[in-house]
Amino acid sequence: MEYDAGLAERAREAIEGSQARLQVRCADAAASSIYADTVPADLVLTCGVFGNISDQDVRATIAALPQLCGPGAQVIWTRHRREPDLTPQIRSWFRTAEFEEVCFVSPGNDSWSVGVHEFAGTPQPLDANAHWFTFVR
Ligand SMILES: C[S@@+](CC[C@H](N)C(=O)[O-])C[C@H]1O[C@@H](n2cnc3c(N)ncnc32)[C@H](O)[C@@H]1O
Repeated sequence: MEYDAGLAERAREAIEGSQARLQVRCADAAASSIYADTVPADLVLTCGVFGNISDQDVRATIAALPQLCGPGAQVIWTRHRREPDLTPQIRSWFRTAEFEEVCFVSPGNDSWSVGVHEFAGTPQPLDANAHWFTFVR
């Protein structure tokens, strides 16, 4: 999912000829309706998102992930760790949304981080009228 048409086109070119089942969509990733024909998913990536939206939107997006995930689905996410480091809070919000942490990798404070969480809860129906976040930076 990419909002910028030029970047989406470059992504399409990059996957041309790939054996994998990949599809690039040029759309607002925050609009829940665009996931209607793709849920429940086994793998969800929220990479390059949590560092660009408000803390409240990070929390709302994590709370909505059970609408995208099938049983045992994995979510891979990224977030910088600049002060104030939000990653402890993010990991706690995942627990609240019934995800179990598979791993959390970071070279240390003030750096990057990548997390993997597995969904251990009950999949939720998609609210197709939601808008989960707004890019602010
Ligand atoms: C920080 S980059 C992350 C790129 C990549 N996902 C990564 O992790 O390296 C943010 C990207 O999100 C795109 N973007 C911004 N707002 C978006 C939205 N509402 N829906 C989909 N993509 C968006 C931007 O055009 C930009 O390419």
